[in-house]
Amino acid sequence: MTNESGTTRECDRADRSAALARADIRGMQGYAPGEQPRDGTVVKLNTNENPYPPSPHVLAAWSKAVGQGLRLYPDPVALELRTTAAALFGLRPEQVIAGNGSDDLLTIGVRTFVDQGDDLAYVEPSYSLYPILARIQGANPRPLRLEPDFQLPRELPGDLARSKLLFVARPNAPTGTSFPRSRLERLCREFRGVVWIDEAYADFADDHCLDLVGRFDNLVVSRTLSKSYSLAGLRVGLAFAQCGLVAQMLKVKDSYNLSWPAQHLATAALRDQAGMLRNAQRIRATRERVVAALEQSGFRTLPSQTNFIFTEPPLPARVYLGELRKRQILVRYFPGERTDKFVRITIGTEDEMERLLAATAEILAN
Ligand SMILES: Cc1ncc(COP(=O)(O)O)c(C=O)c1O
Repeated sequence: MTNESGTTRECDRADRSAALARADIRGMQGYAPGEQPRDGTVVKLNTNENPYPPSPHVLAAWSKAVGQGLRLYPDPVALELRTTAAALFGLRPEQVIAGNGSDDLLTIGVRTFVDQGDDLAYVEPSYSLYPILARIQGANPRPLRLEPDFQLPRELPGDLARSKLLFVARPNAPTGTSFPRSRLERLCREFRGVVWIDEAYADFADDHCLDLVGRFDNLVVSRTLSKSYSLAGLRVGLAFAQCGLVAQMLKVKDSYNLSWPAQHLATAALRDQAGMLRNAQRIRATRERVVAALEQSGFRTLPSQTNFIFTEPPLPARVYLGELRKRQILVRYFPGERTDKFVRITIGTEDEMERLLAATAEILAN
């Protein structure tokens, strides 16, 4: 039987060749991505994709990218894309690195800054990939537990100083909440290792931290084109930092980590800022409407700065998720003491959210 990571349980258990892998790898669970059904009738609100199509400029760039020679290797350092991204934020191309999705950049960061046996810190609860990347590297995962209101602790625990890298998703996932910028500035000043602000959802938020890149030598800020640019399938992420950090990371990335089509289409997408912002604004407006409607039905929703909401239904979260599923609506649930009362709902189109609200009313009426 195939699991979500594409392997088989039989392979994990019985096949003796698995014994050739490192003990840490055999002992750990891989990252579990959300379900990706290809059935078009499902209302898919489980993996924070954008419900609207990408910019028409992206589609026009497709034939150019393909025509321009899949026969040849792509630009190993994606210079046109990095130059375009740098110009958007008033930085230099040497301060930008592009990745095969921001997950690729997170991996590159871990491999660049964290040695085997080192500590790698990350906010908890947050993106569940962070501790997995630590384990793959043979590093010690060091969760920095958020306060009960999902804010950063006022004082940093003393042993955090040992960590070489600290991941902070801002806005955070799966909570959807943000942290004050001043708190992040303080973190950059106080933390001795690299602070990595993962801004996967920043285009749906009121503010961001990209301008801090020029002020701190130990800061990396990453972005993705998977959410606000509607390009989850293309796999493009960007990270911004002082050129010293970028130069080291460039040595660690795969030689050709971005295909030609990915580089061309991502460049076209970045050049259509107006289109991206229009969709992001639309999603933010839908988000506020859905939060208000759910509140009327007794849901408690954390203040969201993202294209999803983390909400506590007035019935057990698992039951609510199961009932939605019966009605062909997928949302996401995160087991665990801090998160198991909530479900995470991606903001879809107005129509999709109407279906969610109608299904919710039906579930609560029974
Ligand atoms: C906080 C956070 N960072 C990074 C990613 C990965 O994004 P990408 O598609 O660019 O790999 C996600 C995806 O859900 C995320 O939630």
